[in-house]
Amino acid sequence: MLNVVVLVSGGGTNLQAIIDAVNDGTITNTRLTGVISNNQNAYALERAEMAGIPAFCVSPKNYDSRELFNEAFLNKIDELQPDLIVLAGFLVVIPKEMIEKYRNKIINIHPSLIPAFCGTGYYGLKVHEAALARGVKVVGATVHFVDEGTDTGPIILQKAVDVQNGDTPQVLQRRVMEEAEWKILPQAIDLIANGRVEVVNGKAVVAQ
Ligand code: GRF
Repeated sequence: MLNVVVLVSGGGTNLQAIIDAVNDGTITNTRLTGVISNNQNAYALERAEMAGIPAFCVSPKNYDSRELFNEAFLNKIDELQPDLIVLAGFLVVIPKEMIEKYRNKIINIHPSLIPAFCGTGYYGLKVHEAALARGVKVVGATVHFVDEGTDTGPIILQKAVDVQNGDTPQVLQRRVMEEAEWKILPQAIDLIANGRVEVVNGKAVVAQ
């Protein structure tokens, strides 16, 4: 069994997709052992509670310095003993120490086809605004391992989504979530839980 901890900051629709996929057997060999948010008011925490998953808030607001927050955050993660940490709309910079300790055990979902529209400043609606401003015809989402850079880690899965005439950033964001994010994030967890992903020479190799 793969013990998975999910980190969230907001509404938690990706978390919900993971919970549903575990419940309906789309994700196998996996136990959701905890959900942690930096934001006390994140609806994602309620989703976790409704699903019977231990939910915690570790907020920078409750600590005098970033160092003390990072320490408390890492302690909470360690306590839950995850085999895999999933960033599902988590807006906090992951401490370097945590990346080293959990190398190739942290995955993130990004709402673009990396390397387009990624890196510093590209999060949430900004990604979709930039895609529409550039006039691209295909967008999508990427699941990747987290390394020291921003959206630079080994790519595990990507899925393309068509842009349609008249799309607004909000409409496009929703389509990317429905058609790509909510599918490839659960799929990546299932692949990892079944030993089908390994990192070789800095690239993720997925057994087909
Ligand atoms: C998603 O677009 C995800 O790609 C991201 O932040 C958003 C989170 O949405 N990086 P939700 O909290 O899962 O609903």
